[in-house]
Amino acid sequence: MIKDNQLRQEAFTEIEKNKDLVMQDPYRLTYHLMPPVGLLNDPNGFIQMNGVYHLYYQWMPFKTGHGAKFWGHYSSKDLVNWNHEDVALTPSEWYEKNGCYSGSAIEHDGKIYAFYTGNVKDEQNNRETYQCLAISEDGINFDKKGPLVYLPEGFTSHFRDPKVWKQNDTYFMVVGAQTNDLKGAVALLKSKDLFKWNYVGIVAGGGKGKLGEFGYMFECPDLFHLDGKDILVFSPQGLEPQGMKYQNVYQAGYVVGEFDPETGQYLHNDFEELDRGFDFYAPQTTLDNQGRRLLFGWMSVPDQNEQDHPTIEYKWIHNMTLPRELKMVGGKVYQVPIEELKQLRSEEVVSYIVKLTKESKELDGIHGKSVELYIKDIDITEGWFEISISDGGRIVYSVEEKVLTFERKSYVNGMTEKRQCPLSELSNLHIYIDTSSVEIFINDGQETFTSRIFPTPLNDTIKFGAAKHARFTVLKWDIMD
Ligand code: FRU
Repeated sequence: MIKDNQLRQEAFTEIEKNKDLVMQDPYRLTYHLMPPVGLLNDPNGFIQMNGVYHLYYQWMPFKTGHGAKFWGHYSSKDLVNWNHEDVALTPSEWYEKNGCYSGSAIEHDGKIYAFYTGNVKDEQNNRETYQCLAISEDGINFDKKGPLVYLPEGFTSHFRDPKVWKQNDTYFMVVGAQTNDLKGAVALLKSKDLFKWNYVGIVAGGGKGKLGEFGYMFECPDLFHLDGKDILVFSPQGLEPQGMKYQNVYQAGYVVGEFDPETGQYLHNDFEELDRGFDFYAPQTTLDNQGRRLLFGWMSVPDQNEQDHPTIEYKWIHNMTLPRELKMVGGKVYQVPIEELKQLRSEEVVSYIVKLTKESKELDGIHGKSVELYIKDIDITEGWFEISISDGGRIVYSVEEKVLTFERKSYVNGMTEKRQCPLSELSNLHIYIDTSSVEIFINDGQETFTSRIFPTPLNDTIKFGAAKHARFTVLKWDIMD
């Protein structure tokens, strides 16, 4: 308790001390969730209870680097207006002294049961891992119950990020893991009472099946039903780039399959990336009381040049994606911005039917740092079509190559870098620009590109161009703070 109070106090002091500086950053976002100070990474414990959505997050309040993580906390009634709440978990106990790492939440008897990884390192930097429980009646104050799951045989101590759900009368937990022969895996445990857990086996990876040779570690697994299928989302580490795929340091994606709760067997298809941009990792989902499968992702990837990140001089780094709803369309997981985001729109909409012929131009009233663009009825007969977001990023669709490209100016060396995906046809683009971030939803969520961008702060131009002929309708809303 003493340590917990002390850590809370220190985090609070850190917020107070740096709040003005953090707010001055021209790259601070206006409608995305960010840390009040320090570093934010994975979404944790995403849940709706008693009409309130809770989103906890991995938080390092004391620096813009990683370390002994806290669980920060945001709450909201509508997924649009969020309150920053008191710290949910501090790494105060022996079994979590090097971090209350990622985990999930489930409602039981009107309380939130939060499962998370207690990360411990000794003087030689050897790691220990404990899957812990903390219970909360109000979502704000947690009562820690300590470790419930110890490392099963067959795994290294890279065993973390429990995601818990209930199916029939049983509770299940998937955990991100690495087998002793250094293969990425997802481990499965089950329980009748949420306290006593039994190890069942490996549901995916671990040297067997379609994900047998698929990197050395799987982080942040999440297994859930979607439209009659069982989707396993996870973040594999150790994949080599393959054509346009796997271009980031680590990936985040899913497999589609069938989970048998009786045997714990999971048969699944091949891995698909969830997002094709520069910054997307460790997504987590929840089912809300409207039956929607909602997702938040971390808008970054571990181990990518944090020391060069433009926001660190303002004492903060990273943010969440917007909340998205998942849908299954033809065996593929689509991601769409949730309906509620329309509340952010200004009353006035600027719209045009545009015809471009071998030209590039700005459109009156279509510019801004914090805007939503919806571009529909896209008709490009030849060549390419492009949208430039000031000097920070550029979207290009090539009809001949059938490829969508997103380019940005690297924050490390200023060079142009790109991410791409094959796309047989482009019909619409839904784009959310927020100062230093862009989320692009293509063809109603068939593909998404999520990236941080760092345009010249005063430049808010948006330009449209076509190599030959392009016709489209564009709608633009300013987004209210
Ligand atoms: C993913 C991750 C998790 C871990 C957490 C620590 O980004 O590495 O595996 O629990 O971050 O902050």
